Amino acid sequence: MSKSVEIIRDRAGTEPVRVAFILGSGLGHLAHAVEGVAIPYADLPGFPHVSVSGHNPSLHVGMLEGTRVAVLGAREHYYEKGNPSAMRVALETVKALGADTLIATNAAGSLRLDIRPGDLMLLSDHINFSGLNPLIGEPTDARFVPMTDAHSPEVRAALKAAAHAEGVALPEGVYAWYSGPSFETPAEIRAIKILGGDAVGMSTVPEVILARFLGLKVAAISTITNMAAGLSDEKISHEHTKAMAPLGAAKLERILREYLRGLV
Ligand code: HPA
Repeated sequence: MSKSVEIIRDRAGTEPVRVAFILGSGLGHLAHAVEGVAIPYADLPGFPHVSVSGHNPSLHVGMLEGTRVAVLGAREHYYEKGNPSAMRVALETVKALGADTLIATNAAGSLRLDIRPGDLMLLSDHINFSGLNPLIGEPTDARFVPMTDAHSPEVRAALKAAAHAEGVALPEGVYAWYSGPSFETPAEIRAIKILGGDAVGMSTVPEVILARFLGLKVAAISTITNMAAGLSDEKISHEHTKAMAPLGAAKLERILREYLRGLV
């Protein structure tokens, strides 16, 4: 058993968790709703040292809507230190705690005129526009992870049903991972559009790859904070992302809570 798993079981108890979450910029509220314990990443060996404002770097383990969950309140992004596998130990840990499903959230820019700031988008699939991969250097044959249906049809259907029950629109689309930390140019956005991207962001794809590697079912939801570069006159900035994320966050939380109620 890893040291992190030992510490978490010590503080949060040994009952297995069922679902793990990873929360994006400005979407940390769900973590505080967990009835249980919060453990700072700094106490957990192998967990990242997150340096992005608007993130809450703690692991919350406990009950939410009748299900035992583990909520990773923050992620280390590739653009922080250039490490695409920064979340590997954290994901291995939630898997070891018993999670069989990972739900990731993020803030993203939309390339679709029918998906606007404040809206949500369920990832049907993704494009690894960065070309980076968290499994480079993994020595075993397990590195050859199939990515067909990487975004679990089963979990997506459950999330869509939850959204429907809550009366929240949850269109599906393809998310393109851009390394960041600079935002995209309008020409890059036009290229992503031609390639089939519906939204763009700086996270999530490395975690989806790692989670599939670990055998977790995965789904991810973007909160749209802005139209992508060149698609509106609005200025794109991290401040703007943080200010806009809460617009979608309340709807997102309703969907995730209803999804969990559906598991009980
Ligand atoms: N691009 C990349 N990442 C983002 C964006 C964007 O437009 N908005 C929020 N995160």
